[in-house]
Amino acid sequence: MIMEERAVPSRVVAAERVAYEAGFKGSSIPEVGRLLRLAAAAKPHGVIAESGTGSGVGTAWLHSGLGAGARLVTVEREEGLARRAAGVFADDDRVSVLTGSWRLLERYAPFDVFFCDGGGKRDDPERVVELLAPGGLLILDDFTPSPHWPPRFGGEVDELRLFYLTHPALNATEVLTTPVSSAVVAARRHWRDRRGPS
Ligand SMILES: C[S@@+](CC[C@H](N)C(=O)[O-])C[C@H]1O[C@@H](n2cnc3c(N)ncnc32)[C@H](O)[C@@H]1O
Repeated sequence: MIMEERAVPSRVVAAERVAYEAGFKGSSIPEVGRLLRLAAAAKPHGVIAESGTGSGVGTAWLHSGLGAGARLVTVEREEGLARRAAGVFADDDRVSVLTGSWRLLERYAPFDVFFCDGGGKRDDPERVVELLAPGGLLILDDFTPSPHWPPRFGGEVDELRLFYLTHPALNATEVLTTPVSSAVVAARRHWRDRRGPS
């Protein structure tokens, strides 16, 4: 018998099929998907955002935790992929699949969950943090675990990872998603927290 936490939602399977048909190789793995589902489920009335839809696999994992009062918006710059991914969610008006730059997401901010997976993570990390609501969760995957502090990648300090892990507006940590991959998970502080203890 398949244990519930190991089951893959049918919409994820549909998005994986789209990836296969489109020859798209960049989809999230189930270990990351379960983290996405958890984050979405923690914000049942939230705005859930994703940059880089791909074929919709990560979107489908987010969708599997989506509350009845929540909204999910995702953006993909490759028009063909966006169109195919949109088909996976055509029956659910809580979901919007946009075509174009990740900056199109800004009009839906602030975000209660932001899976920053295509655009923003490297090119405008400060803006990524600004787009989070107080208490909003940020998920960034595809890091390589490092035994060092500050974390290193390819022999160099990983400045981007360090930026997110030490940003003053975030409570952040790094979690293993597999033995050889990790994700940064962060929550935006409430403004009161940033004044220090009272
Ligand atoms: C890692 S894949 C996304 C995988 C998907 N989020 C998932 O979980 O299965 C990254 C995607 O981001 C898209 N992308 C990259 N830069 C982008 C940008 N600036 N704006 C919008 N989409 C972008 C790429 O075309 C690619 O499809």
